[in-house]
Amino acid sequence: MSSGSDASGVQRARERFLSVGRLDPGGARPDVLDSWRRSRALGVQPDHFDLPFVREPNADSPLSAAAAPVLHRIAADLSPQSVSAIVTSADGVVLQRVAPDMTIMNVLDTVQLAPGYSYAEEFVGTNGIGTALETGQPTFIRGGEHYVGTLGRLACAATPIRDPITRNTVGVLDLTCWAGESDPLLFALANSAGSHIEERMRALSHESETALLEAYLQEAKRFPLGVLAIGGEVVLMNRYLRAALDADDQTALLQHASDLLSSAMGAAALAVLPSGNAAKITGVERAGTRGGTNAVFHVHLAVDAIPHPLAIRQPGDVLVGASRDELGTLAELQAALRRVATLVAHGAAPSEVFSAVPDELARCLHVGHSTLFRFEADGTATLLAARQEPVFARLRVGKRFSLEGENIAAMVLHTGRAARMDSHDNASGSSAANVRALGVRSAVGAPVVVDGQVWGAAIVGSSRPEPLPPDTEARVGDFADLVATALANAQTREELTASRARIVVAADEARRRIERDLHDGAQQRLVSLGLDLRTAEATLPAGLHGVKAQIAAIATGLAEISQDLREISHGIHPAVLTKGGLGPALKTLARRSTVPVGLDFEIDRRLPESIEVAAYYVVAEALTNVAKHARASKVDVHVDTEHDNLRLVIRDDGIGGADSAKGSGLIGLIDRVEAVGGTMEISSRTGRGTSLLARIPFQIH
Ligand SMILES: Nc1ncnc2c1ncn2[C@@H]1O[C@H](COP(=O)(O)OP(=O)(O)OP(=O)(O)O)[C@@H](O)[C@H]1O
Ligand SMILES: [Mg+2]
Repeated sequence: MSSGSDASGVQRARERFLSVGRLDPGGARPDVLDSWRRSRALGVQPDHFDLPFVREPNADSPLSAAAAPVLHRIAADLSPQSVSAIVTSADGVVLQRVAPDMTIMNVLDTVQLAPGYSYAEEFVGTNGIGTALETGQPTFIRGGEHYVGTLGRLACAATPIRDPITRNTVGVLDLTCWAGESDPLLFALANSAGSHIEERMRALSHESETALLEAYLQEAKRFPLGVLAIGGEVVLMNRYLRAALDADDQTALLQHASDLLSSAMGAAALAVLPSGNAAKITGVERAGTRGGTNAVFHVHLAVDAIPHPLAIRQPGDVLVGASRDELGTLAELQAALRRVATLVAHGAAPSEVFSAVPDELARCLHVGHSTLFRFEADGTATLLAARQEPVFARLRVGKRFSLEGENIAAMVLHTGRAARMDSHDNASGSSAANVRALGVRSAVGAPVVVDGQVWGAAIVGSSRPEPLPPDTEARVGDFADLVATALANAQTREELTASRARIVVAADEARRRIERDLHDGAQQRLVSLGLDLRTAEATLPAGLHGVKAQIAAIATGLAEISQDLREISHGIHPAVLTKGGLGPALKTLARRSTVPVGLDFEIDRRLPESIEVAAYYVVAEALTNVAKHARASKVDVHVDTEHDNLRLVIRDDGIGGADSAKGSGLIGLIDRVEAVGGTMEISSRTGRGTSLLARIPFQIH
């Protein structure tokens, strides 16, 4: 944010803008000028103030819960000064406000900066809250920079608050004080308080995910058949269900269980799944959290041939009579599982989960050795991650080990179940010799099962003389299950991206083929027909002027059709893009646009073809949409790089209301951008213009 322009300059600029409708660029900051322009376009009255009550604010939302202590803290810290702290929803509706003194609170009441009223730009014009929401940027609006005169007494520093996971804006934190007492520090304070609220939202969502995981693990231990847990975006399904149901059945089951979320506890439903299997779903645990509802279900399947559940836990872990030490270990185990499950739930790369698992296993089971292997098609196993006591020889990650002879990995691979060896003294084979060389006496391993196949094994080893405790199999199995979930999630994501990439590539190839066919076929025929006609014209006897003129007109018409075809084919596949790169191609698009385009292109090199093509089509479709739907006076296209991403912003000042559900263009763009690993955001509120933001990473995975 730029620093303040002088107050009288702003005042003059505002008066001039309101009276003659002219913007003096020198008088106020560009972001303020933009906002004034929007305020006018939205029909906000600069000298009149009467806001409608929008709705009763929801005090239980995750944002309200996270913000409350932060607001109180700010109010207490700033107590001698007249500063109020306010938090609003994403549409500017005030959710909470706190002020240390009544004078400022009374003023807030007079200007309806009160719970249930919205300070979005469409109601109030330029102001900290609305303008921060509109621009997505921290904003400081002081005195006469406000669009509505009544707000000239106040200064507000506001910062958008984003969901810690999705990064969508969920609201705004705003600090309001007297204009005469505004201080740049207020802006810094608003930013740091906003980050603080985001951190608390993250912690609270973590808390509810943890509670879900705990409830799930308890049921999964107790109940021998299907267990399903749902909380917000997180779904946990035990191996029994994953093995017995295919993807369609799993999706349908999830849908039926979600329908039960709001029913009374103990409610049950009988669902027929797409494959014809029947499932009885019973709610066994439900808890309201600040992020929504967490629920755990038991699932009975009526299937003819359910595969033998590989790892149904026996009721173990009975806490009754457990010693203090055992309770401590259990708590440690739960915490370790929770850390790995959180990684998985947040979509961490499998490699990250691989390296976390041996570390956590070694720590919570107090064993010196802990490893994760993947089984290979040639009958060997690759070491993916390991944690070892430093006194022994090191195992190299990435190395392949033979499975011949007697060893835990081979037992897990062959039986598909957990396995144990309490001694390796007389075991045969090179792996057993390795294990002895590492000082390991007893070992326990559990399978990582993906899509019904034994994919790998998690193995722990102890150098102590006594065998590992009897529940070690179940413990290691819990972690192996999390590795399987991470792999299954990543696989689904990869398949999705790959299939989208295939569709886009196929469409691009089809385009190129059409261009070639047009060029080699129809265009050539037209050109040669034109030449034939010209020859015929030349050989006509003198005197036939009427016929000559007709033939000349037909020849000209043919030449024009040929030219049209060339242009159409260039439109289908942007030849200028292939030859000149993205910059010249976008310039051509801008030139052709019927709405004036401000193009700002800040890239000085060529990018991989797939990225340039995706970027080109985003701009092409966005400009076409502006011309077709927006009724805009101008559109800005900005292209630059941000970290390792290409960033495209296309913003128009039209009527807004773009909705990807209404056509095929925007949906196609989202697919195209996501297929190359990018993201696309569309923001288009009615009356407030449309902006598209696409980010495309340079590295395509
Ligand atoms: N810049 C814009 N301003 C206003 N409305 C828009 C804008 N862009 C899109 N829209 C609205 O969103 C809808 C969906 O746009 P989309 O591009 O997906 O479909 P379309 O343009 O109608 O058809 P096509 O499939 O040919 O692209 C449009 O029908 C239009 O109502
Ligand atoms: Mg369109």
